[in-house]
Amino acid sequence: MRLWAISDLHVGFEVNRAAVEAMTDHGDDWLILAGDTGDTLAQLTLVLDVVTRRFAKVIWTPGNHDLWTPRQWPESRRGETHYARLVEACRERGVVTPEDSFVVWPETGHAIAPCFTLYDYSFGPPGLSADEAVAWAAETKVQCADELLLAPSPHASRGAWCAARVALTEARLDALDDETRLILVNHFPLRPDLAVLPRIPRFTIWCGTTRTSDWHKRYRADVVVSGHLHMRSTRWRAGVRFEEVSLGYPAQWQQTKTVDDYLRPILPAPPPVAGWGEDTTVIRHW
Ligand SMILES: [Fe+2]
Ligand SMILES: [Fe+2]
Repeated sequence: MRLWAISDLHVGFEVNRAAVEAMTDHGDDWLILAGDTGDTLAQLTLVLDVVTRRFAKVIWTPGNHDLWTPRQWPESRRGETHYARLVEACRERGVVTPEDSFVVWPETGHAIAPCFTLYDYSFGPPGLSADEAVAWAAETKVQCADELLLAPSPHASRGAWCAARVALTEARLDALDDETRLILVNHFPLRPDLAVLPRIPRFTIWCGTTRTSDWHKRYRADVVVSGHLHMRSTRWRAGVRFEEVSLGYPAQWQQTKTVDDYLRPILPAPPPVAGWGEDTTVIRHW
């Protein structure tokens, strides 16, 4: 019985969709899906209908792409309303969401905590407003489609939605007893030092919130799973293993391989590698 993770399946791309549909049966194993299955509810349900047949349990959290809605939709259908529809699609299939009680990994007692915290532009230079941060990124011709497609309704801004999500999630995590060890799951990396994007460094403003920077220690995480960057890696910070588990766009993975090849083992923990220390970074190029 193993716990696996993957994110950023982006099945709007035909080659990604076919690869997801070709996933093999994993028996008793569980799967963490850490966001960006696609850009629509239909693409999410397509993925869920495959993986719920291949794994004994599935744990999901949304990515920014999952939250996209057409600009012409009324505000009442966008933002939180759309998120609620995604959650409902998960629950109809028995998939665990950030709105459900945490599930416990039977072999170790770890609580698996899917979180949804979004971003608030605080990974950029300190003191910038959201508009200033977007302008700062635009100086290097970097922009993000979320600015048009990820509506924060009924919140006034994505930053306000992020603040509400952080408060809600902290209340859930604070309610755990002090002995519980965690597998923390979030589409967005928890810390700015994990959101390193050498080709588009200023994209970091759309990658997370500094409000979560100490969660791995504060909430006793042994592993933190995220996606979003489309840069597969394993990093350690203060002895905690951070796994970036993206598949990514078609150019970002090798089509001679299968989606199964890209599943990242979470539990049992892979054996330690000689020379990998507390603050090691391993970029996964395969
Ligand atoms: Fe993605
Ligand atoms: Fe993303």
